[in-house]
Amino acid sequence: MSTLGKCLSIDNINPCIKTMEYAVRGPLVIRAAAIEKELEQGVKKPFNEVIRANIGDCHAMGQIPITFIRQVLGLCVYEKLFDDPTIPSDAKQRARDILNGCKGGSLGSYSDSTGIEVIRRHCAEYIHKRDGIPSNADDIILSAGASGSIKAILALLRCDIDGKRPGVMVPIPQYPLYSATIAEFDMQQIGYYLDESNNWGLDIAELQRSIDEAKKNSYPRAIVIINPGNPTGQVLTKENIEAVIKFAHKENLFIFADEVYQDNIYAPDSKFFSFKKVLTEMGEPYSKMAMGSFMSCSKGYMGECGIRGGYCELINVCPEVRAALNKSISAQLCPTTVGQACIDCVVNPPTPFEPSYDLFMKEKGEVLQSLKERALLVVSTFNSIEGLSCNPAQGAMYCIEVIRRHCAEYIHKRDGIPSNADDIILSAGASGSIKAILALLRCDIVWKKTRCNGYMGECGIRGGYCELINVCPEVRAALNKSISAQLCPTTVGQACIDCVVNPPYSI
Ligand SMILES: Cc1ncc(COP(=O)(O)O)c(C=O)c1O
Repeated sequence: MSTLGKCLSIDNINPCIKTMEYAVRGPLVIRAAAIEKELEQGVKKPFNEVIRANIGDCHAMGQIPITFIRQVLGLCVYEKLFDDPTIPSDAKQRARDILNGCKGGSLGSYSDSTGIEVIRRHCAEYIHKRDGIPSNADDIILSAGASGSIKAILALLRCDIDGKRPGVMVPIPQYPLYSATIAEFDMQQIGYYLDESNNWGLDIAELQRSIDEAKKNSYPRAIVIINPGNPTGQVLTKENIEAVIKFAHKENLFIFADEVYQDNIYAPDSKFFSFKKVLTEMGEPYSKMAMGSFMSCSKGYMGECGIRGGYCELINVCPEVRAALNKSISAQLCPTTVGQACIDCVVNPPTPFEPSYDLFMKEKGEVLQSLKERALLVVSTFNSIEGLSCNPAQGAMYCIEVIRRHCAEYIHKRDGIPSNADDIILSAGASGSIKAILALLRCDIVWKKTRCNGYMGECGIRGGYCELINVCPEVRAALNKSISAQLCPTTVGQACIDCVVNPPYSI
């Protein structure tokens, strides 16, 4: 027998993947899965089902897809639908434009690594219309969900400076993609606490405290701002954004503006301001700062999480860095073309006088209204429960209930020293108490080793699988943790590989 040991064991895999924490594996989610199994086996409980509210996955919760989006996607994927007279002409025109932008006129071909040009152009036009500030299609990168481009740009920052590890400032509470990816890339997470007493806004003194502390053992290079906030539901004011931009400028930080919830604004006195708009309107030197803004088709009124569509607008990034980024993302060939088509529907929706407009606006309005009502219901319910408190949900899809009084009682009991609920701040690591930040989804290994090549040639759809044999459970668990930071492989790609492995039979 070889003395070299196993070629793949938990002791010889990437140590960063071993140490990275991903809330998908958190205690609540694991317990939920166990309870689901018990219910399946007939164990009697005072309830019949488990509702997984640990992630903003609207379709999983029964949200009806937007007709226009599904019509365009259907046409792009199955061109015979162009003959269907019940599908409106504007949906057909959108699909035609997308297909004309695909090599060979098929969504099944690989696109450029940065995405299909006509869709990048539509993204730029959407941003221009939203902000009143021109945007350049060459600054747009399409990606598999916002996660794809967030991860690609975080990867650019993996460079020690002055012998120190690169650090990235992330909000606490935060969305775990950031902590997981920072750990995976062996960078330093610099947590800054959101100000609960100021409706989870950003407090500049707290930003300064956290960066000063971090400078002792890392080199801070970027700041992540999630606006509207996940899991805190805040919508930042323009003044707050200006203050953050000034701080980032002073500290020479790249700005990650995670704006995937820009359509989810509920509070009547809240308004979404993009970081790009605020930064540009502040004039020089701020308007020259490097930043990325991220958008997704998973959130908003669309909720198309599994399709994996998103974009990043990168501004004030020099051509050499852009070239390096393009090179790095090209190793993934291209983001799923179905996801690209989906984000096209988001940035290029029906306009007044087009046949799909009325139905589109009705469906969009109903979804947003329903999300708003549920947000109000959750907030008022939390606040009606003794010991819980919850700020108003101004936007996004989450509320965070704070069990401060219970924490204070626990500390009092443990230490025998009175503790004040007002002194308690819950962090992302507060395990069981903060359900909303114990996020994310199961993810099986449906990966792209055996791709849809062969007779299928569906390159752009991005479907494939890998069978892992004789890999120990610890390595499997580490792998699952690592891939789960990308949420899931595109569901259309999964459906495509299903057709390959489960084709029609002769009878
Ligand atoms: C704040 C935030 N950013 C990014 C994402 C990633 O979304 P996706 O990759 O599906 O676009 C999510 C998903 O929940 C999120 O809440």
